Amino acid sequence: MTKGIKKGLTSYGDLDFSLFLRKAFIKAMGFSDEALNRPIIGITNTYSEFNPCHGTVPQLITAIKRGVMQAGGMPFEFPTISIHESFAHPTSMYLRNLMALDTEEMMRAQPLDAVVLIGGCDKTIPAQLMAAASADLPAIVIPTGPMLTGHHKSERLGACTDCRRYWGKFRAGEIDQAEIEEVNAKLAPTAGTCTVMGTASTMACIAEVMGMSLPGAAAIPAVYSERLRNAEATGRQAVTMAENGILPSKIMTEKAFTNALIVLQAIGGSTNALIHLTAIAARRGIKIDLDRFDALGRQVPVLVDLKPSGQHYMEHLYEAGGLNTVLTELRPLLHLDALTVTGESLGNVIDAATPTPGQEVVRPLSTPLFPSGGIAVLQGNLAPNGCIIKHSSATPGLLQHTGRAVVFNSLQDLADRIDSPDLDVQADDVLVLQNSGPIGAPGMPEAGYIPIPKKLAQQGIKDMVRISDARMSGTAFGTIVLHISPESAIGGPLALVRNGDRICLNVAARRIDLLVGEDELGLREQSRTANIPPREKVQLITESGYRKMFIKHVTQAHIGCDFDFMVPDEIAGSAPLALFTDGTRLESGNMP
Ligand code: FES
Repeated sequence: MTKGIKKGLTSYGDLDFSLFLRKAFIKAMGFSDEALNRPIIGITNTYSEFNPCHGTVPQLITAIKRGVMQAGGMPFEFPTISIHESFAHPTSMYLRNLMALDTEEMMRAQPLDAVVLIGGCDKTIPAQLMAAASADLPAIVIPTGPMLTGHHKSERLGACTDCRRYWGKFRAGEIDQAEIEEVNAKLAPTAGTCTVMGTASTMACIAEVMGMSLPGAAAIPAVYSERLRNAEATGRQAVTMAENGILPSKIMTEKAFTNALIVLQAIGGSTNALIHLTAIAARRGIKIDLDRFDALGRQVPVLVDLKPSGQHYMEHLYEAGGLNTVLTELRPLLHLDALTVTGESLGNVIDAATPTPGQEVVRPLSTPLFPSGGIAVLQGNLAPNGCIIKHSSATPGLLQHTGRAVVFNSLQDLADRIDSPDLDVQADDVLVLQNSGPIGAPGMPEAGYIPIPKKLAQQGIKDMVRISDARMSGTAFGTIVLHISPESAIGGPLALVRNGDRICLNVAARRIDLLVGEDELGLREQSRTANIPPREKVQLITESGYRKMFIKHVTQAHIGCDFDFMVPDEIAGSAPLALFTDGTRLESGNMP
C-alpha cells in the first residue's frame, strides 16, 4: 500500500507528475527529501481565539511534534473547524457534523499515515471520533484537558456547574449584580475544558476507555506539564500506529462501545454523550440500543463523585488516579480484551497503571455514589422512540411526579414568558418546551435546562420537572427529561401537549406519559396537521447552504443526530430520520 508523501495523489492523469508537483510545492515550506520520506503524521490544529477550551493547543502541537520526530516520523499540522460551546450559534450540535465531515475529508485528502486528533470542547472529540470511524486511518485522540478550578469567598468554583448554580442564585435575588460579575471572572481561571463531568470530560473519558487515546489522557489538567508529556507520548505512539497499521476499525468495536456505555453510566457522564456514542457507533455499523443502555444502567452504579452528580472536580479525579481508578473498579464488567491505541488490550492497560490508595473521589462498586447508572431511558406515549433523564443529578422527590403542564412552544416563547409575573405556574407543575429538537431549533440546543420561573426561584424553588426534545449541558443538573424522540417539530407527540394537561413521570418504571385520552389526542393531531402551512411555505424552502443540508438530513436523537446519508439503513431502520412538517418523509427526490 502506498504510504507517506506518495499517498492519495491529486488527480492530474499522470501520477509521476502529481508526485513531482506535490514535492515541488511542499519544498517551498522548507522540507527536505529526507524529511518527506518519513511516515507522515497529521496533527489537527483546533486552536481558535474563540475557543478557550483549546487555548493550550499550540503548546500541545509543539509537544506532539517532538514525539513524532523522536519516533522517526514527520509531523504536519493542519487546521480544522474548532467549536466552542459559547461561540456556536445557534448551538454547537448544529456544527458537530460539519466538523466531522471537515476532519474526515481532510484525513482522506492529505497524505497521512496516521493522525493525532486534538479535541476538547464538547462537540470536538465526538466529531473527531466520527471522522476517524469513517476514514479508518490510524488515529489517536489527545484531549486538551480540563481547566483548574477557581475560588470565590473561600468556596471552590468550576465551570460550568457552578456557573448555573450561581446564575440560579442571582435570578432568585440571593446575590446582587456586583457579586455575579465577580463570580463571572473566577469561574474559568485557566485554559482547558469545563472542570466537572460535563460533556467534554465525559467524551475524554470515553475516548480513553474506548482505547482511542493514551492511558491517563482524559483527566490530566490542561495546564499541567504532564499534559505536554502525554502529548509527546501521543506523537510517538502515532508513528508506531502508522507503522503497525492499528486502525480505528480494530479499536472501535462493539466491545469498545459497550465499555464506553458502562463508563458513561459509572462516571455520571453527560447526557450528550449518548447521542455522540450513537453517532460514532453508527459510522462503524454498530447500533446503540437504548433499552440495552438502560439495562446496563441498572447494573452499573455511579462511582465517580464529581459535579454535577457529586462534589468534586476533574483535577480531583486526576489526583485520584484518573480514569484508570474507575476502570479498575469496573474491571469485572468490562471487555478486557478490547484493543487500544497502545497495541495492548484494555485489561493490560488497566493492570499497568499505578493504583492510588486512599483516594476518595472514585467509590468502590460496593458503596457507590448513586445505586444505579447516571442516565435512565424512558418510554411512554410522549416519547415513542425514547427519551432520557440524568437521574443521578435530579431531585429524588421529583423522580415520581405527576403535574400540570405549562407549555412553551418555542425557545422564543420561553424567553418571552418564563419570567413574566403573569405566568400561570406553580412549583409542582411540569415545564414543557416544544420545537427545540434537531430540526425544530435547529440543532437541538442545550435549552432543556429550562430556567425555574423567576417568581418561583425567588420563593426558593430550585428544581421542577422539565421536559423537552432539546439537550442540556453535561454540566447541568435537575429533574430534566431530554431528547424526546421523535421531536415535536416533525409531529412527535410532544407537539400535542397543551397547558393544563397532566403529565406523569415515573423514573422507576421508566415511563413518561401524557395523561390525555387517545380520542382527544387524535383530535389534536388532526387539528395540528390541518393548521400546518403548505409545504411551499415551509421554512426549509427559503434555506440554503449548510443550514438547508442540516435540516434536510439530520436524524433524530435516538439515531445520533448524524446526517442520514452517514447512517446505515440497518441502523436507521424504519424510524423517521427527518420529516416535513406535514409529516411526509424527507428523502432525496422530494426535497423542494
Ligand atoms: Fe468547552 Fe465546557 S465550554 S468544555
